[in-house]
Amino acid sequence: MMKNAAQNKEAKSTVRVLLVDDEADFRSTAAKRLGRRQMDVTQAESGEQCLEMLEKDPDRVVVLDVKMPGMGGIETLAHIKHRFSGTEVILLTGHASAEDGVAGIKKGAFDYLTKPIEFDHLLEKIRQAHDKRRREEEKKREQEFRAKMEQQMIATERLAALGTLSTGVAHEINNPLAMMRESSGYMRAVLNKEEMSAAPRRKDLERGLDMIEKGIERIRRITHLLLGFVRKQDQAFSETRLKELIEESLELVAREAKDKEIQFVRQMEDADGIIWSDPYQIRQVLINLLTNAVHAIAGEGTITIGLRDENAHVVLSVTDTGEGIPRENMSKIFEPFFSTKPTDKGTGLGLYVTRGIVNRLGGEISLDSRVGRGTTFCVVLPKCCRADAECDENADICNDILKKIKEMKNDDQNTGESVDR
Ligand SMILES: Nc1ncnc2c1ncn2[C@@H]1O[C@H](COP(=O)(O)OP(=O)(O)OP(=O)(O)O)[C@@H](O)[C@H]1O
Ligand SMILES: [Mg+2]
Repeated sequence: MMKNAAQNKEAKSTVRVLLVDDEADFRSTAAKRLGRRQMDVTQAESGEQCLEMLEKDPDRVVVLDVKMPGMGGIETLAHIKHRFSGTEVILLTGHASAEDGVAGIKKGAFDYLTKPIEFDHLLEKIRQAHDKRRREEEKKREQEFRAKMEQQMIATERLAALGTLSTGVAHEINNPLAMMRESSGYMRAVLNKEEMSAAPRRKDLERGLDMIEKGIERIRRITHLLLGFVRKQDQAFSETRLKELIEESLELVAREAKDKEIQFVRQMEDADGIIWSDPYQIRQVLINLLTNAVHAIAGEGTITIGLRDENAHVVLSVTDTGEGIPRENMSKIFEPFFSTKPTDKGTGLGLYVTRGIVNRLGGEISLDSRVGRGTTFCVVLPKCCRADAECDENADICNDILKKIKEMKNDDQNTGESVDR
């Protein structure tokens, strides 16, 4: 790594030049002399060839003759500035044509020199053009870095604000939403009555109700997810039987999977799966991961739910043989509202909420995915969540678990292993 960085730096500080002139003698003499000054020089005999070469390798200072057959220097310069805006160009003009040089500067040339060229002068100009390019690259990198940092800061603030806001909004929305749901149900019941069978424009009313119900369902899912996320004030810790929760969650996602041929495989033999945590929130995590797994499978496939003990932790995993997650989406999937699904299928809050819950329960979530092969989400949870205020002397189960953990720790210490995370 270090070596690469050093090599890179060296490559960047080497002055690289493209000499463009139709006079072969001039080119080869100048190239030799510049080469002796440790410059890396390539040559082109025309404007057209210069553009072709820049296409492959634009990071060169171009020394460009103005008077050339075919595409002249000024026209070539215009193309260079249009296509490779960062490339610096030094024009070589004929003795009596300073106006070409001025026109070139107006079109973005770094500078111009009149022929016959004084070699030291050319050398100096090339170095200046090279330094200018490096400075500008540095500036660009800095700006990009700053923009990225600012974006990250905005995202962090947005996330914090979202957490606070969502509690209020979700609670506020829930009541009117329940009323809307009830009213639309009532309207549907009225519409289905015998006396309404011949009502004018009945179909239009039904269509309207369909849309209202779809909208209500979408809002309900969002508030449900947000409330799940912000439940921290009323976390309810208790003995949590993971195997039972897994079965319950599987039942709940069965509806999503009904039109697909999905085989659900359980790999839970190696764990008793009883922990001290918040079952409501863990169920939500399971439902989110399982729903995503179902959505990822197009026609038929397998979803494997794994559960195993790892000293003071349990490891829950959901593996699907679905479409996988493209590399470019990997960094975005935990962001709120990032979704690749149609709006009636996804809000983009599932994983954001899931990670929030897992972290609050003292755990961690990770994933491994291959496009076209499938995805595994892995959740590591502590068997006893110490973030819980009730997890004290009065909680028998928790004490039992703590005792077991202590014993395991002692065993591990005796064998030289550590279970601390
Ligand atoms: N198992 C998976 N396989 C493939 N892609 C996945 C999987 N899980 C998540 N994703 C990708 O991550 C995105 C975000 O997932 P997330 O659960 O946060 O939102 P969602 O499923 O789109 O909507 P919802 O909020 O209803 O869960 C998904 O839209 C999908 O592109
Ligand atoms: Mg989801």
